[in-house]
This record gives sequence, structure tokens and C-alpha cells, in this order.
Amino acid sequence: MENRDTTPVGGISPQPYFWGPFDGFQAISQGGFSSDAWLVHCENYYHSIRDASPLDNGIKKLQKIAKRVIGRDFRTLVPSHLERKISAGASVLDIGGGWGDNYYQLKLDGVNVQPGAYCILDSEKQAAFGKTIFSPAEINFLSEIPKSQFDIVLLISTLQYIEDWKSLFATFDRLGNDYVYIARTPFLDGAASFCAVQSLTPPTLGHKIGEENLHIIAFSEFEAVCAAHNWRVKKVSRRQNYSKHFTRMPENQRNVYYQCLMLEKTAE
Ligand SMILES: C[S@@+](CC[C@H](N)C(=O)[O-])C[C@H]1O[C@@H](n2cnc3c(N)ncnc32)[C@H](O)[C@@H]1O
Repeated sequence: MENRDTTPVGGISPQPYFWGPFDGFQAISQGGFSSDAWLVHCENYYHSIRDASPLDNGIKKLQKIAKRVIGRDFRTLVPSHLERKISAGASVLDIGGGWGDNYYQLKLDGVNVQPGAYCILDSEKQAAFGKTIFSPAEINFLSEIPKSQFDIVLLISTLQYIEDWKSLFATFDRLGNDYVYIARTPFLDGAASFCAVQSLTPPTLGHKIGEENLHIIAFSEFEAVCAAHNWRVKKVSRRQNYSKHFTRMPENQRNVYYQCLMLEKTAE
């Protein structure tokens, strides 16, 4: 099929790893995040951060400072006012939080997450691995949207994989949260939202492990949906150009960028 990545699992897809658009061919052939190989990547990643030497950590810190000096983004996982709320006991639902990598990063950033305050909604496979690392008091792993209330929802590198992202707003109404923080999600200007196919090639493995549908959301549409559900949208960081990953798309679908967003509930 034209413009489709036919690289088999285990092979090395030609870069960029985003192929499409999705409408041009049928749905994905292999689940990426549900594969055993994704779990191997998660284990490798966990070991790499857990076993990092003080020298590795020092180099990482210097790289972050250098990025700040040359004007690129330098931030912790969430903005500092969310860090303060979490340290003060705010409850967090981390949708797509995997085995707990965001939680781990929050702790590295010095956030004092209160016992029982942090839940992750992701696959059971991810939860099984996470439970070998964290106690139930640290993270409560869920595989269904909970009935309980939360203060903050995190969507870190996850919104783009949720098929019906608009339905999340009804979920927020049920959860009663006042904040949603979105990071590492691609948005688009000047064209309608579209779906592409991503050949998933985790950095710790370096070969294709499967495919996932990737939604690129038109920013204007996202703002309109937020406004309709009484959410104020604040851009948190400078936008990061992501267009080099979309060179296989028609020209008007390449203006893609990452933008961290804070949604705050407004009065009804
Ligand atoms: C790219 S990973 C992000 C993992 C981690 N949060 C990070 O920042 O690297 C995307 C995660 O979203 C999860 N995911 C995909 N669709 C989901 C859905 N509908 N509900 C909950 N989690 C989902 C996947 O299982 C995967 O762990």
C-alpha cells in the first residue's frame, strides 16, 4: 500500500516513524503498547533511570541548564503550582501513566506525593510491572475509569492515543477535577484534525515493535471543545516544532507541534 510502513516487527522502520494519513489505509496490524516488547522497553527504561550514576545524573542536569541558557524549554514534569498542590495533598489521576514513570519523575523533581493520592489508569500489563516497583500506598493502579473524585488529571504523551478524545470531557465532569495538564501531545494549525499511523520504535530497543493510531488535534478545534465544556486553556511552555516527523503527510498536515497545556475549570 502506498505510503505505508511495511517494516515487520523486529525490523528498522525508515524515519520518520509517522506514516499516513490513517484514512489512506486500514487500521493497525499490531498493537504497540499492548505488546510484550513495549513492556521490555519499559523495564529497560526503568533500569536506566534507577541505575543512573551520579555522573550520569550530573550530566543530565547540565544538559537541562544548557537548554535553558540557549532558550529552549526547561521544566519539571508539571508546572510548579501543580507541584505545590500535589505536595499539599491534591489527588492525581494519571491517564496513560504506564508503570509509574511520571510518578517516578515527580519524585525526582522533589514533589512530595501524599500516600493514597496518586492513581494510574493504564493497561493491566503496565500495572503488573508497576506493582513490582511501587507499594499500593504510593500508586493505585486502575484499569477502568474510577468512580471517585480527583483534583488533577495528567495526560502525558497519551491524549494522542485516545480514540475518542472528546469523550474525556464527560469523564472530567464525573471526576470533578479542577485541572488537566497535557504534555508531549502533537497539535496542528491551519488544517483539520487527522489521524496518522505511528510505527512504534522505542528508544531502548531501536526496532519496530508494532503500530499505533496517532491523533493530531487541530488546536482551534481543541480550544472550541474546551470552551464548550467550561475549561480555560493556558499554554504553559513555548511550542516545540514537531513537523519533521510528518514529512510523509500532505503539506497542509505538516504544521505539527508539541504544546504543554493547562486546562482550568471555569464557573459553569
Ligand atoms: C507513549 S506512552 C506514555 C507513557 C508515559 N506516560 C510517558 O510519559 O512516557 C502512552 C501510554 O498511554 C496508554 N494508553 C493508550 N491509550 C489509552 C487509553 N485509552 N486509556 C489509558 N491509557 C492509554 C498506553 O498504554 C501507554 O502506556
